[in-house]
Amino acid sequence: MNSNADRYIPSESRLFKPLRVGSFTLQNRIVFPPLTRLRSDDGHVPLPLMQKYYADRGSSPGTLVISEATAISHLEEGNWNNPGLVSDMQTEAWRKIIDAVHANGSFFFQQIWAMGRASNPDLLAARGFPYRSSSAVAMKGSAIVPKAMTENEILETIQDFVNTAKRAVSAGADGVEIHSAHGYLLDQFLTASVNQRTDKWGGSIENRARLTLEVVKAVVGAIGGERVAIRFSPYAGFQGSEKTDFRELYTYLITELKKMNVRFAYLSLVEATGDPGALIWNDKKIHQDKTLDFILEEWDNLSPVIVAGGYQPDTAARAVEEHYQKWDVMVAFGRHFIANPDLIFRIKNGIPLAQYNRPTFYNHKQWLGYNDYPFSQEFVEAHSHAVHPMIEQKEEAVVA
Ligand code: PHB
Repeated sequence: MNSNADRYIPSESRLFKPLRVGSFTLQNRIVFPPLTRLRSDDGHVPLPLMQKYYADRGSSPGTLVISEATAISHLEEGNWNNPGLVSDMQTEAWRKIIDAVHANGSFFFQQIWAMGRASNPDLLAARGFPYRSSSAVAMKGSAIVPKAMTENEILETIQDFVNTAKRAVSAGADGVEIHSAHGYLLDQFLTASVNQRTDKWGGSIENRARLTLEVVKAVVGAIGGERVAIRFSPYAGFQGSEKTDFRELYTYLITELKKMNVRFAYLSLVEATGDPGALIWNDKKIHQDKTLDFILEEWDNLSPVIVAGGYQPDTAARAVEEHYQKWDVMVAFGRHFIANPDLIFRIKNGIPLAQYNRPTFYNHKQWLGYNDYPFSQEFVEAHSHAVHPMIEQKEEAVVA
């Protein structure tokens, strides 16, 4: 097939073909992916302004909205103003966000994580928490060496994933996405250069994969496989996550996931071009020859797959029509979704996208750069009969 992006009009492509995910049906295959935004309070409780932000991104009914990475324990709340889902207060704050997304007819998955050595060591020290990883291997450029986790700490971490997954479901989430990517804790076990353990949690591929697989198994046991998703970034180099044995490692992981005999909600994969490191360096050339195909072949349509990595509406349409034609693929749009709360409506109606402003992405606790990207005039006119209160909400009303 001729690979000319212009052949495909995004609004007429498979991007708008409904898709069954877990126990619900999406009306489009454009996903709002997990994005760190730092709008929780100093106790890692989501601020009310997050209700509008998430609801707006679910303003086209039947969209999959995934939360920013959310900590499974207070120890893993390793960066200022990122959220946790550990206490009752955090659960109630998430419940309001999830209710707001559901009120717009969309679906909500909670991405859950442990940060390990990617946490801020000063923040942990100030709270009396240990700075930990799979092994005592420092982050590049850091003089602070993490402590290798004990087996007990590993087992507690598995239980923390289970507890937070249960909390997410009790707060109304349609499921959870287990973050095993980008150099965070589970990935610190997967990566040979970071994990230098000599017990059953390190060494061989089987041992390095053990923690991710045990977490998935335990969470599936607690909330059911249809509510569970997993994220991997096989090519990322972010935070020391480069893997020379990626082909064998991810083939093993997928094979073992399939042996669990459950139909997971979805698998989320980051393209080589989606490496947060590559995005920061704006390097579009690296790894262009690396594809996710070996993983999709092995996964064999067990459930839908999300791909992420610098997609535009035209390249996403081409991807689902051509490269990923054999598979049920959804495409994530991160930065464009930040700047366009009505991204799906805009793509559907061929409305130009607003530009994002990177310097405000991580403004701690601020409305600015978060809830001040407007809906298109066309969206407002099309919905004037029934504007959801979330869309109208003003800053004064939500920031206490
Ligand atoms: C980040 O906060 O920079 C970040 C978090 C999660 C990711 C990637 C990047 O998966």
